[in-house]
Amino acid sequence: MNIALVTGASSGMGRETIIQLWEHFDGLDEIWAVARRKERLDELEGMVGVPIRKFPLDLMDREELQKLEEALGAICPKVRFLVNAAGFGKIGNVGELSVTDQADMVRLNCEALTAVTTMVLPYMPENSRIIQYASSAAFLPQPGFAVYAATKAYVLSYSRALNQELKSRRIYVTAVCPGPVRTEFFDVAETAKEMPLYKRMFMANPRRVVAKALRDSIMGRGLSVYGISMKGFRLLCKEAPHGFLLSVMDRMDKCTEDRGWSRDRK
Ligand SMILES: NC(=O)c1ccc[n+]([C@@H]2O[C@H](COP(=O)([O-])OP(=O)(O)OC[C@H]3O[C@@H](n4cnc5c(N)ncnc54)[C@H](OP(=O)(O)O)[C@@H]3O)[C@@H](O)[C@H]2O)c1
Repeated sequence: MNIALVTGASSGMGRETIIQLWEHFDGLDEIWAVARRKERLDELEGMVGVPIRKFPLDLMDREELQKLEEALGAICPKVRFLVNAAGFGKIGNVGELSVTDQADMVRLNCEALTAVTTMVLPYMPENSRIIQYASSAAFLPQPGFAVYAATKAYVLSYSRALNQELKSRRIYVTAVCPGPVRTEFFDVAETAKEMPLYKRMFMANPRRVVAKALRDSIMGRGLSVYGISMKGFRLLCKEAPHGFLLSVMDRMDKCTEDRGWSRDRK
């Protein structure tokens, strides 16, 4: 049985990935959809014409993760696509965010992504694809979003190394690094503090980001960066000293705050 396995399937780019996989790829017998909100996974059945196998589970819970591993072991599918889109971030300084929020970002964005990738790999045949949702936040440390950016730097580094390791098996890994994308992500991210205005100006459409990610994955590219502004940002982060860029961003944040364009939500 040929399948795609998608985490973060209940909203945003994970859900959009399921829709576009169905639109563009024949030959998938099932799509396995993972997220906590079961009612959202139920809705997927009306959106796509391929059977959805639902895994309503919390990826931060090791016992629940085991259910996924057991299903893989019992059914032994051929996983043609693995898409790790589950993830969250909280905006706020390290001293302002709770220990739980910070530790959970690491648990979901790094640990769970690594665990799911490792448990799925034995079921991936030649020519299959892994799509890992990192972020443009991986390109530069982000004061005010420090832990999230660090988790995404992990995803980027891990995915590039894994891509190299899997070359002999002809499995291709793509790290997706979008800037801000219009999804429910910000409902969670902005519970304490809003995103600065200058970052809001670059909000991308999730459908386009996902379409590019799938195209890049099929082309066997290791990195997918949507939009000219984020490509420019990546170049800047490669060429300019990070200390200098951080001081420029600090000034922009202060200017935004002074003008009342960004508010504390506490
Ligand atoms: N939106 C952006 O601006 C942006 C930019 C760059 C990168 N990204 C990255 O892109 C990925 C997708 O983000 P998105 O924008 O699509 O966000 P989103 O709409 O908030 O989707 C996040 C998904 O993760 C799932 N999730 C959260 N906690 C989970 C848990 N403990 N166990 C299982 N599933 C969990 C959510 O489902 P449940 O709540 O139902 O569990 C949801 O389906 C994330 O990794 C994010 O970091 C987003």
